[in-house]
Amino acid sequence: MKNKNDAQLFEIGKLVVELSMIGGTDSNLDALLERMISVLEKLPQLRLQHRGAIYMYSPRNSPVRVAQYGLKLNLLQEDEDDPLHGYQTPFCKECISIRHTSPAGCHNLLILPLQNGLTNLGQVVLFADPKWTPIRSEFDFMTDLSRALSDIINRFLLGEVLRMREVELEESRADAIRRLGTASEYRDSDTGMHIMRMTAISVVIGKALGLSLEERELLSITAPMHDVGKIGVADAIMLKPDRLTPSEFNIMKSHTEIGGSILLGSDTLVVTAREIALYHHENWDGSGYPTGLSGEQIPVLARVCAIADVFDALVTARPYKEAWTLQQAIDWIKGQSGLKFDPAVVAAFDNALPEILRIRELYRDDVIDPHQVLHLPEIPCREVRWISWDENLNVGIASIDEHHRYLFDLTNDLINVVANRLGARELGRVLKGLGEYAVIHFSAEEKMMEHLGYEGLALQQVMHRHFLERLHEFKREIHENPLVAQHEILIFLKKWLVGHIRDEDSKLSVLV
Ligand SMILES: [Fe+2]
Ligand SMILES: [Fe+2]
Ligand SMILES: [Fe+2]
Repeated sequence: MKNKNDAQLFEIGKLVVELSMIGGTDSNLDALLERMISVLEKLPQLRLQHRGAIYMYSPRNSPVRVAQYGLKLNLLQEDEDDPLHGYQTPFCKECISIRHTSPAGCHNLLILPLQNGLTNLGQVVLFADPKWTPIRSEFDFMTDLSRALSDIINRFLLGEVLRMREVELEESRADAIRRLGTASEYRDSDTGMHIMRMTAISVVIGKALGLSLEERELLSITAPMHDVGKIGVADAIMLKPDRLTPSEFNIMKSHTEIGGSILLGSDTLVVTAREIALYHHENWDGSGYPTGLSGEQIPVLARVCAIADVFDALVTARPYKEAWTLQQAIDWIKGQSGLKFDPAVVAAFDNALPEILRIRELYRDDVIDPHQVLHLPEIPCREVRWISWDENLNVGIASIDEHHRYLFDLTNDLINVVANRLGARELGRVLKGLGEYAVIHFSAEEKMMEHLGYEGLALQQVMHRHFLERLHEFKREIHENPLVAQHEILIFLKKWLVGHIRDEDSKLSVLV
C-alpha cells in the first residue's frame, strides 16, 4: 500500500509540474484543460474519457462554463445535444463522482472542486468510463490534484486580470489624448460628433488602403487630435459666422503648426498625433499648408485623415454653410484625386463608401427623422453570428434600425473575442467600444423621442440607464474574474438587446 501511495505521489508531482509549465504563459484555459486531460490519460487506472469542462461561479453564484475540451462551445448552455445540458454543479469540497443524465444520455462524471482558500471558485468536470467506480485512494488522489489545479487556475486568472489592467492603463492614456482632441472641437461643433465620425471614417479608409491593425489602432487614437491646434486660434476667428478674410484665414492655417508644437514627445502615439496635426492640410500636389509637402512626403496617416476630415465637413451643415449632398461631396473628392488627395487614398475612400455612409448614420448629430429613407448599401455580416438580426426587430425607423443592427454587430464582435479566446486585451477593447456606442445610440434615440413628444420617453430613459449601469457593473466584475464575466456579459447583452428592441423600441413605430 505504501508503495502505491509513493507511486501516486510521484505521479501527482510529475503531473503538477507538467501542468504548471503551461499554466503561467498560456492565456487559453481550454488548452490547459486539454493538457490536463492528456496528462491524466497517462494514468490508466483512471478510466477517463477525452472530454471535460471547467465551471466557475459568478458573483451571483451561478456556474459559468469557462472552458471545455471535447465538447462543443455552448455559451448559453441551452444546447440539448450537449452532454452537460442541465448540469447543476453540485457543491463538494472533495473529489466526488456523480451520474448525470442529459437528453444525450447518462454520464459518469468526476467532479474536482476548485478553491481559493475558503472560497469556492468552481469545478473541473471530467467524463469517466460509465462502468468505472473509483476506489478511496483514487478519490484522494483526485482531491489532491484538484488543490494543485486550483493554484494553477488561480494563477491563470491573476494573469488575465493583469492583462486587463494593462489594457486599461493604455486605454486611459489614449482616452486622455482623445479627450484633448475633442476639447479642441467643441467650440466649432457642439457635440464632438464630427471628431467621432472623422475618426471612424479614417479607420475604415485605412482598412481599405490595407493599413495594419496596429496602424489603424494608432489612427483611431491620434486622428481625433488633428485639429488640436485650434485651441490656439482666437474665438473671433474660430467662431466667426461669415467667410474669413485672407489675413484671418492665414491665422486659421496656423492651427496646424500650433498643433505640432503642442504635441511634443518621442513615443509613437505622440509622434503620430503630431504628424497628423501638422500635415492634414497638405496636398498631394504640394499646394497645401503649412510646409507644402507633396506626394509620399506627406505621412500616410495624415493623407488618410485629410480625406475623412474634408468629406465629413462637406456633408455636415455648419452655421456658416449648408451641407453638400453626399453625391456632390463624393464627386468632388474623386475629382481631387492626384491634386489635393493621394489617388490611392481616394480609391480606398471609394471602396469604403458603404461603411462610410453607415458611419454617417451611426454618429448623427441632428435629430433623427422617423420618415427618412436610407439607401445604405449592404454591409457584409460579421463572421461568428451569435445574435442574428431578424427583420421582426425592425422598428420601421431606418436610422434607429441601423443603430440597432450595429449594436448587434458589436455584440457579435464580442462573441468572436470570447469564442476564439482572443483574451482579456481584445475583450476590454471591444467592450469599451460597445459601451461607448450604446451611449451614443441611446442619446440619439432619446433626442428623437423628446423632439416628437413621445410618451414612453421616461421609461426608455430608465431602461437605457439601467443597461449602462449593468454594463458598468460587469466591467468591474471583469477585474475580479474576466473568465466568468465575459460569458455573463454575452448572455446579458443578447437578452437585453433583443428584449428591449422587441418590447420597447418597437413601440416607436407609432412615430412613423
Ligand atoms: Fe484642420
Ligand atoms: Fe434602441
Ligand atoms: Fe431604447
